[in-house]
Amino acid sequence: MVFKINPKSKYAGKLEKEKELKRLGMHSFHRYYGKLIPAIPLCFIKEFSKENDLVFDPFSGSGTTAVEAMANGRNFIGFEINPLSQNIAEIKTSKLNPELLEKINTEILNLIKNKDYEVSENDLPFLINRDHWFKDFVQRDLIRIKKAVDEFFDDYKNKDIDKNLYKKFYLMTISAILRNVSNADTRHVFPGVSKRMRKLEEEGKIHIDVIGSFERGVKKRATYYSDYKYDNSAKIILGDSSQTDMEFLRDKVDLIVTNPPYISSVRYIETLKLEMYWLEYIKNNQEYSDLAHKMLGNDRLSKKECENLEYTKYAEINSLIDNIKEKDLKNAKIIGEFFNKIEKVIKNMSIVLKSGGKAVIKISDSKVKKTKIETGRLMTLIAENYGFKLFDVFLDEINNNSRSLTTARNTYSDIITHDYIIIWEKI
Ligand SMILES: C[S@@+](CC[C@H](N)C(=O)[O-])C[C@H]1O[C@@H](n2cnc3c(N)ncnc32)[C@H](O)[C@@H]1O
Repeated sequence: MVFKINPKSKYAGKLEKEKELKRLGMHSFHRYYGKLIPAIPLCFIKEFSKENDLVFDPFSGSGTTAVEAMANGRNFIGFEINPLSQNIAEIKTSKLNPELLEKINTEILNLIKNKDYEVSENDLPFLINRDHWFKDFVQRDLIRIKKAVDEFFDDYKNKDIDKNLYKKFYLMTISAILRNVSNADTRHVFPGVSKRMRKLEEEGKIHIDVIGSFERGVKKRATYYSDYKYDNSAKIILGDSSQTDMEFLRDKVDLIVTNPPYISSVRYIETLKLEMYWLEYIKNNQEYSDLAHKMLGNDRLSKKECENLEYTKYAEINSLIDNIKEKDLKNAKIIGEFFNKIEKVIKNMSIVLKSGGKAVIKISDSKVKKTKIETGRLMTLIAENYGFKLFDVFLDEINNNSRSLTTARNTYSDIITHDYIIIWEKI
């Protein structure tokens, strides 16, 4: 295999052009670390698929590829292991009526403002150090909002709509504003009460208005649904892309656009910790740890777990594991596990994609204990075993929107030089 960056790739220029376009409002529904910039799926959806084709993403995240597929008249199917992320992506690709949302907004806000909901300790979710993360009045206001949403949908009668879906819109909006009304610094990737926040607090510069944030949040988000037509279908399946049997999708997919998790670089689940506990996707430490373990790139490993190193079918990856093992057993374990899982996902990608179809992957190298891991090149090596050939590869400049993530990656696992866009073709 020759894995060489193509400095003359025509797709690099095309991608830069797409970056100049105004992005859809829907992409701003929920903050999500590691989000694709919408120009990437947009560019390749236009380039490598046609209307009503099926686009696939095995790591759907908050659904950037899904939204672009829908907005451009394609169908979409994807997998996501985190139930909160799956719900965010689902709500961003559901056909909700903006006028109806406006009416419901008014009624829910009336309930919140006019009803004197009592809040007891039992109403509050489990979250270690809850009072550290949220002020008392914030916790109470959040529960009052939740009670109003519950009450509205319990009583609401409308045969023409899927009530659960509409209710999810409000729950996802609560999730979307949660970090802003918490004590955590919104500039940080991982939740934490920073020195900056403490200083602002001391200077009396923090003014949290939970109900106001919710009101503005639902009004703004309702307008996103007039942006595009949603004539096609999007399905985001809650599941593990490395473990799911994808025979049901054999040869049905026209195009794949995805960005897999980085090796041990970002604990996606930790970035969403407050939201996941508050909305009770996770109810205790055990559930948190169980989900983290299933995720690709997981680094929550006990000493004992690290003793069983995982080797792969690939000599080059194995020698990397051996090299890192000398310095750090945990990272050696993470790398073996990452490549074994990603191999299973690549196999699934090969099953679902039609012959001649393209798979577009955005990925970066990692540096673990001073050893460079060329994740994209090694994934391409694996992909060649599963009926893919390298079609093109070029560097994408890391854009400003992901700067906070880049900083987190760098401080956390000493990453990352470049973002690659790699295109494979299914033979
Ligand atoms: C880089 S993010 C994708 C972001 C997405 N492209 C977006 O724009 O929002 C990677 C995603 O993979 C998910 N993930 C990790 N392991 C997975 C697995 N085994 N199966 C499916 N999804 C997984 C993570 O929860 C995370 O949302």
